Parts: sequence; structure tokens; C-alpha cells
Amino acid sequence: MADSIYRAPKGTRDILWPDSARWRRLVEVFADVVGAAGYTHVVPPMFEHVDVFRRLGDATDVVAKEMYEFLDKGGRSVALRPEQTASVVRAFAEHRPVVPWKVWYAGPNFRYERAQKGRFRQFDQVGVEALGPDDPHLDAEVIALAWRFYERLGLRQVTLLLNSLGNPDDRARYVEALTAHFSADADALSAESRKTLTTNPLRVLDSPRTEDAELIDAAPQMPDFLSDDAATHFAGVRAALDALGIPYTVSPRLVRGLDYYLRTTFEFTAEALDAAQDAIGGGGRYDRLAEAMGAPPTPGVGFALGVDRTLLACDAEAVFDAPASAVDVFVVDTCGGDEAVLVTDEVRRAGLRADRAWDDRSMKAQMKAADRSGATVAVIIGEDERSGGNATVRDLRGDAGQETVARTDLIENLRTRLQ
Ligand code: HAM
Repeated sequence: MADSIYRAPKGTRDILWPDSARWRRLVEVFADVVGAAGYTHVVPPMFEHVDVFRRLGDATDVVAKEMYEFLDKGGRSVALRPEQTASVVRAFAEHRPVVPWKVWYAGPNFRYERAQKGRFRQFDQVGVEALGPDDPHLDAEVIALAWRFYERLGLRQVTLLLNSLGNPDDRARYVEALTAHFSADADALSAESRKTLTTNPLRVLDSPRTEDAELIDAAPQMPDFLSDDAATHFAGVRAALDALGIPYTVSPRLVRGLDYYLRTTFEFTAEALDAAQDAIGGGGRYDRLAEAMGAPPTPGVGFALGVDRTLLACDAEAVFDAPASAVDVFVVDTCGGDEAVLVTDEVRRAGLRADRAWDDRSMKAQMKAADRSGATVAVIIGEDERSGGNATVRDLRGDAGQETVARTDLIENLRTRLQ
């Protein structure tokens, strides 16, 4: 790495081409998949009043430890968004759009995490939120959209983990039973888990520490606490996924890191990634969140997928390649550069990507630049071509050689070559 005075802050990165092109294409594919299901684009602010995010749960790491929280110059307590569901639901409560309100988003989030591969302090997500219907088919639609998106990227080694946290009463009874179970043998737990037990007993189930494994294995299981209503809903989600041929694993210990979840929760893991950062997306129902933001009671379900991790999974499966070049056509002008001004403009207006050489370099230097650009063809204009109203088109990648064509036929010729 070259020496420079400043570096991007810890946990952040600059995304340069060709990664940036791949990144943008990922968002385009996502917009295409969810747009086909009637989801419209929403762009929430990147910071909110801190209370909006407190709804994610004071005991969650995201709120208690990782929030970029500060007083602005007007003395307002604000935080950079650690995720977008809270903002989208706040927007729902504020604007009261007609339901079902189905929206998608893409953009950065901020969490003060321990930075490592696949874990950043600024990371992007694409996601959807659907508010209004309580219908298990909507849960299945949302899950299926993520699944179809992964398919469109070419990912084949994704696992869908599915669970239900039940209705609020079911969840409360389960938390009570878990607390009793872990408290009875608290000395056997790790110090960290003993602490988690007092703040967020569900999260003890997520402990990666070996000393906790035995008690976790013996812990009560969520499915035993589901009310008939929640169990019927969950069965409806599973039946719809079965009908769609989307495979899943019911994972009774999947609790997720945010507090707003009720009933359906899910996570997508990439088999090709290291287990520590293999969660490439997740979501679920948050049927009480709209109410907590001041809207009339309105159920909701959604997911967010980590862009960085999804692309790491694509790398690991060698799919969804970065583009090989930024341009298709490279204009070499040995008459001083004026011709290149016109020809690049004409080629670009025809919808082809074109670049040129600068600073009136030699033919040899310009051809080198053409080669480096990754373009498929070079358009060469020397004195002969200029005076004859022609252009020479040279194949840079294959064995189609070169030919001189009338300037009036140039675009047609390029189109044919680049098909
Ligand atoms: P989440 O599980 O916190 O859920 O994040 C979703 C995904 O974002 C994760 O599976 C992961 O791929 C990615 N992600 C999270 N933190 C980081 C990080 N520090 N660095 C890189 N990637 C990360 C949510 O955010 C919920 N809002 C999802 C949701 C939407 N639930 C309902 N609707």
C-alpha cells in the first residue's frame, strides 16, 4: 500500500472499480427482483433522533454498544442509522401510506463493531419492508424475494434458517423459561453469558463459547412455547415455501440480534464463507414496531442483506464476476485530439462506452492506453482517415483484425462488432 497522509477510518473502505461496478450491478439486480413484486424505493435519512433506534432494544449490542450517537450543533440527540427497519417504520408512522406498503432500500449503516473481514463499521445493506398484511404468504413472499435474488446472482450454497419467536406472550413465556433454565445453573455459564442473562436472556442462545454449549443444548425450545395462532402462522409460512420449492432448515435457536422480532424470523448463511461471518442476510416480523413509533397497530415483515458479505460469498463461489472493462471502445487520434472529441461523443450518444487518450501522445502510447483500458475495439483516426472521412477499427481482443470504414458507417460497424 502506498504511503499517504490519511487512511480511510477503521472499519470503512473505499470501493474502487471494478468492485464498485459489481456493487452497483448487485443493487440493480436487487431493484429488478423486488421491483417485479411491486416494492417501491424508499430513501430514509442516514441519521435519526436516537429514540427511533432505541426501539431496537436497549439491551441489544447494536443499541447499547455499537451506536454512533452524538449531539448535533443544535443540541439534538441523534444517531447514525445502525440499520434501516427502524427508519422505514418511523417513515411509515409519519406518512401513513396506504397499506400494504411494500418498499425496498439500499445504502450504508453504521455500527461500532470490531472490524474484521466481512464486519465493517460502515456497511451497506439492500432490504425490503412490507407493512400491513398479517398473512403468512407475505412472510413467504419476502423470504422468496431474497432467495430469488441470491439465485439471480448465481449463488448456490445459501442456507435458509427459519424460526418463529411466537406472539408477544409466547415470547415472554419462553424468555421466562429460558431465564429459569440458565439461572438454575448460572455458575456453569461463562461470565459473558451470565451478564447477557440479566439483560437479554434470548441472546445467551447465541453464545459461541464452548463452556455454554451444554446448557444451551439442554435449554427449552421455542417451538414448545408457540400458541396455536403463532404455530398456524408458522405452518403457513413453511407451506408456502414448500410450494415454492425453497429449501429451509427450521432452527429453534435462531433468535437474531434485534429486539423487535416476533413470530417469523430467518437468516441466510453462505456455506462458502467462514462461520464467523457467514450470515449474509436476515429478517423477520416486527408486528409491534409501527405501534411503538406512534402508528396504528400495523404488522410488518422484512429483511436486509449485507452487500459486502453477499459479494464475499459470490467471490467464494466464483459467481457474479466484476466487469472486465469500463469501456468498449477506445479512440486513438493522431491528428491532435480534435477528432477524438467528436468521435467519443458520437459513440457515447449511440449508447456505447467509449474513452480516449489524452495529451496528444504518440500512436504507440495511445495504443498502449487502448490496450490497458480493456476496450474491445480501438477506433483509430490518423491523417489519412481524417482526410478521407474514414476511421480504422481494430479488434483489440480477438482475431478480427482491422478495417477502414466510412465515418458514416462507424457506429453500425461498432455495434455489430460489440454484439
Ligand atoms: P441484521 O441481521 O442486523 O438485520 O443485518 C442484516 C445483514 O447485514 C447481516 O446478515 C449481515 O449480512 C449484514 N451486516 C450486519 N452488520 C454488519 C457489519 N458490521 N458488517 C458487514 N455486514 C453486516 C438487520 O439489520 C434488520 N434491519 C433486518 C430486517 C429488516 N429485519 C426486518 N426487516
